Amino acid sequence: MTTHPRADIPVLADDPVKNHPTRGEQLDILASLAADLLKPGDSLIDLGVGVGYVARMIAARVPGLELTGIDLKPASLAGARACLAPLVGKLSLVEGDLNALDSLAVPGGKFRCAVSVLTFHDLPDDAKRRAIAWIARHLQPGGVFLFLDRVRLDEAALFPLQVSLWNRMIRVYGESMRRADTYEEYLADLTATNQVARFADYLSWFAAEGLAADCIHRHGNIALFGAAKT
Ligand SMILES: C[S@@+](CC[C@H](N)C(=O)[O-])C[C@H]1O[C@@H](n2cnc3c(N)ncnc32)[C@H](O)[C@@H]1O
Repeated sequence: MTTHPRADIPVLADDPVKNHPTRGEQLDILASLAADLLKPGDSLIDLGVGVGYVARMIAARVPGLELTGIDLKPASLAGARACLAPLVGKLSLVEGDLNALDSLAVPGGKFRCAVSVLTFHDLPDDAKRRAIAWIARHLQPGGVFLFLDRVRLDEAALFPLQVSLWNRMIRVYGESMRRADTYEEYLADLTATNQVARFADYLSWFAAEGLAADCIHRHGNIALFGAAKT
């Protein structure tokens, strides 16, 4: 039997999110999709921009973007400014809470593309829905929201399959991600900062805002959705 080598995935050494073995490949997919959609000078917004890691993957592929990033943490935004300013045409970083997007002064008009990565699980479900509604209102016709986050495992009977996937991650990638050994442990890990929503709920929330949405890529409980404003 031959062994399957780890895919040649571009993971930058300064990724702020650790213990997420499939993140490199899924971000590469997200950035590739965004780069094919965007042309120089187009507008992109990253909700939960952090230190700019994801936005940089996109900005490095499309010159001259008008980039807006929102995050709660001033220190993260300072990091984002340092890494993104040299890459974009225009940079607007907004310190603010995604729970109250409507009260934020977000500059610019409508966006060609919105992205959000590993951030919505910090929000309660009603704030997730409001954020999706805000994004739908702030996308240009034909604009796309690319969204990556963990989705909730809801079927106890299928939980052993997810455990097998987590175990396989360790074999293939040499590291694990946030996990649990039993369904009860998994449920106990759902807290105020780990409010993982159900896959089906996301699809219904996108549809409720008139977005044409589907899952573009999924690795176990980490799903990449594309939601287009038609
Ligand atoms: C796990 S990090 C992911 C950062 C970035 N998207 C990435 O993938 O590298 C989650 C980010 O969301 C931000 N965040 C969490 N809750 C937020 C909220 N309510 N409003 C704005 N930003 C928030 C955090 O400050 C953090 O930068």
